[in-house]
Amino acid sequence: MTRVFSGVKPTGHLTLGNYLGAMRQWATVDQHRAEALFCIVDLHALTVDHDPARVRRLSRQAATLLLAAGLDPRLCTVFVQSHVDEHARLSYLLECVATDGEMRRMIQYKEKAAREQRRGGSVRLSLLTYPVLMAADILAYRADEVPVGDDQVQHVELTRDLAVRFNQRYGHTFVVPRATRPKVAARVMNLQDPTAKMGKSDDTGPGIVYLLDEPDVVRKKVMRAVTDSGRDVVYDRESRPGVANLLEILAACSGGNPAALGGVYESYGALKKDTAEAVVEVLRPVQERHKELCADPGYVEGVLRDGAERARAMSRPTVDAAYRAIGLLPAGVDGGALG
Ligand code: TRP
Repeated sequence: MTRVFSGVKPTGHLTLGNYLGAMRQWATVDQHRAEALFCIVDLHALTVDHDPARVRRLSRQAATLLLAAGLDPRLCTVFVQSHVDEHARLSYLLECVATDGEMRRMIQYKEKAAREQRRGGSVRLSLLTYPVLMAADILAYRADEVPVGDDQVQHVELTRDLAVRFNQRYGHTFVVPRATRPKVAARVMNLQDPTAKMGKSDDTGPGIVYLLDEPDVVRKKVMRAVTDSGRDVVYDRESRPGVANLLEILAACSGGNPAALGGVYESYGALKKDTAEAVVEVLRPVQERHKELCADPGYVEGVLRDGAERARAMSRPTVDAAYRAIGLLPAGVDGGALG
């Protein structure tokens, strides 16, 4: 069976973009058709300035929201990265396979490092090695597919390169994974800047709909979305990015196709009103389930405990095999010395 692995970084509150662009597809499609693992990648949240209490809070919240969005622990594995030692263990080995030049060429590293330096801050070494840890996340599970947004495709390409290089040098150990783009997903842009992705780490609140925003807050944000000059409602990502974004969100929430929906509306106001209501309706069941789960923190904790146990059992043999293949002396008595 195909194995799928993806990760959510607990660096901000999850957004409508995360939901329509990824989580919904995981719940409605991936967990049913594949052996799927979804990981709260908390180690990755430590690569930039962070507040320990906030990371802890966001990790718990992300886990709760993944379950609220419909991930079912009977169908897939939901777990927290730091609960499974294999990620860090394998990451070090892959650091011995990756090169310094490769790391410095990563677009996201260059952008984030430049931003940090402009602010006068310092760049953590883990920001540079981050893609290696991400490769370890994926390779430890021998995942075939990695559903990710466009900004992560380069990291998956690197993962492929490292897997191939390791296999060639040390013997076949890893599955070479590929990045996939979700089929039914929408690419949701920031409501205040429709040329930028609605990312959870951006700090321009009014353009971002969070999964836990109250209905009235959602309505306000959608009604205040920037639209384009011109008056007729047409779907054109190039010349009308604001309207196109609303049409895309509406289509993703209510079913239907953004271009066809464009013909239905006479005014921006009417489009916004329907989009706002469609978003509120899509978020309603997620928020209700989230509330139930928050009332039962023991349940979420149990899911994460079981998930980590399963993840450990899945990743351990591969990481052990990598340790042996690369030349490390096996410890222990159980066959290691003989193998
Ligand atoms: N780097 C990803 C992001 O920022 C998160 C991530 C970490 C990930 N490890 C992963 C995604 C493994 C897919 C697979 O969104």
